[in-house]
Amino acid sequence: MFTVQNQMNFTDQQAALIIGLSEKNKKVEGLLGELDDQLDGQITSLLKEGDISARKNNIAKIHTFGQTAFKRIFVVGLGREEQLSFEELRKTFGKVGKAVQESKLKNVAVALDTFLTESLEILDAAHALGEAIPLATYKYTGYKKQSNELEVTLENVTVITTGDADEVQASLQVGYHYGTGTNSARTLVNLPGNMLTATDMANYAAELSSRYGFELEILEKEDMEKLGMGAMLAVNQGSVEPPKMIVMKYQGKEEWTDVIGLVGKGITFDTGGYSIKPKDGIVGMKSDMGGAASVLGAMEVIGELKPEQNVLAVIASTDNMISGTAFKPDDVITSMSGKTIEVLNTDAEGRLVLADAITYAKQHGANYLVDVATLTGGVVVALGHHTTGAMTNNEALFEQILEASYEAGEEMWRLPIFEHAKERVRNSKVADLNNSPGRDGHAIFAATFIGEFAEDTPWVHLDIAGTATTTSNYDLGPAGGTGVMVRTLVTFVLRFGQLEEV
Ligand code: BES
Ligand code: ZN
Ligand code: ZN
Repeated sequence: MFTVQNQMNFTDQQAALIIGLSEKNKKVEGLLGELDDQLDGQITSLLKEGDISARKNNIAKIHTFGQTAFKRIFVVGLGREEQLSFEELRKTFGKVGKAVQESKLKNVAVALDTFLTESLEILDAAHALGEAIPLATYKYTGYKKQSNELEVTLENVTVITTGDADEVQASLQVGYHYGTGTNSARTLVNLPGNMLTATDMANYAAELSSRYGFELEILEKEDMEKLGMGAMLAVNQGSVEPPKMIVMKYQGKEEWTDVIGLVGKGITFDTGGYSIKPKDGIVGMKSDMGGAASVLGAMEVIGELKPEQNVLAVIASTDNMISGTAFKPDDVITSMSGKTIEVLNTDAEGRLVLADAITYAKQHGANYLVDVATLTGGVVVALGHHTTGAMTNNEALFEQILEASYEAGEEMWRLPIFEHAKERVRNSKVADLNNSPGRDGHAIFAATFIGEFAEDTPWVHLDIAGTATTTSNYDLGPAGGTGVMVRTLVTFVLRFGQLEEV
């Protein structure tokens, strides 16, 4: 996708050049000056007349009628220099990606140095570009019999820079992996429940594992029975589709120590079970495997970047269906941990499958746990569609996740787990726990429930029910699955440092 050049060195005419213009530097000099000369001062006049502007997010498209090495020039307004953060630049490149896609261009050149500010370094800018292009141009093709236009997709981006070509290339590539890993997660979320069953998800994980050399284990129903995964099995009980507990091991250190456990909720379709969802609430529940998608997307990027860390990914996958064999409210089930659970609501199934996944991860060496799940409507009410809900039993681990989310540009906000929430979750006449203590603050109860299985292991829970999908297009992607938390998880794993013993 990317090639880096230190000099303008084109043998034939290029389709387009992308060049940044900030408020401070809106002088026609340097590269822009050269182009202006070639165009007999037209850039200067367009700027005067306001057709080209340094205003933020303004993208002006100029036709050169063969007078330069580029057929078209896109002048991208960067606004006030001090406001151009890493995150803003990534969005700006997203806009550029979309503009290029709309113009149906296969090849473009980017004058990367024109996007730099005093606080933004070349390698950060390269990462931002590498990430934004695949994210912004992502499309889910779906299953329409006829696609109405012939797709032209961007194939080549030539990056022109005075920076070290190898280093710039490496940063572009890292960003690109972040972007494509996120896109894989988006596609998994966009796939309907009949096209992505637990078995399909296991096959996908198998393919990923053989591509990157992960150790793979798929726990079948019989294995779950032997292990006593009663919570996972209860959710699957009404289904004709076999459940899968997908376990992937990436060992980047000599020893299998300091293992980061990434645990994903992989409900391929959530009907709610006998606590059935209303007809409006059930549509879209194909996305209830968003947490699993984030973990799989993150593992893809980890496979590409090969950090010196140990990662254990555990994905609990099944659908939540109704039939004569399905589990019911009032049922009491026994989880793998031995803790018994009174089922008050079969629609609170995510915490059940995660309970066994977390117990399994702990037993297989996970020293730190991060679970990702489309867990509750409650988090959507509390934080909306842009902010992931985070809950934890460990301040230091949470700090690292939060830092990673800043860097990745993915918003999150913490909700508390206080003692009274634990009391509510433990309040059952017949079992150790109940799976649905009430609707008041229920995102917190869901997390508290999972925390009962994490126990003393440092753990962060990420509720992405509001952020896994979006109904509108945005700078870095289209409506549909967002692939949220792929980039946060990867950044967290890459930067992970052992927690201080307290
Ligand atoms: N998968 C849903 C949560 C969800 C809601 C995801 C909206 C995406 C969008 C989850 O399994 C669920 O049904 N949760 C219940 C919990 C309740 C029964 C305590 C909910 O949020 O209503
Ligand atoms: Zn549910
Ligand atoms: Zn669910």
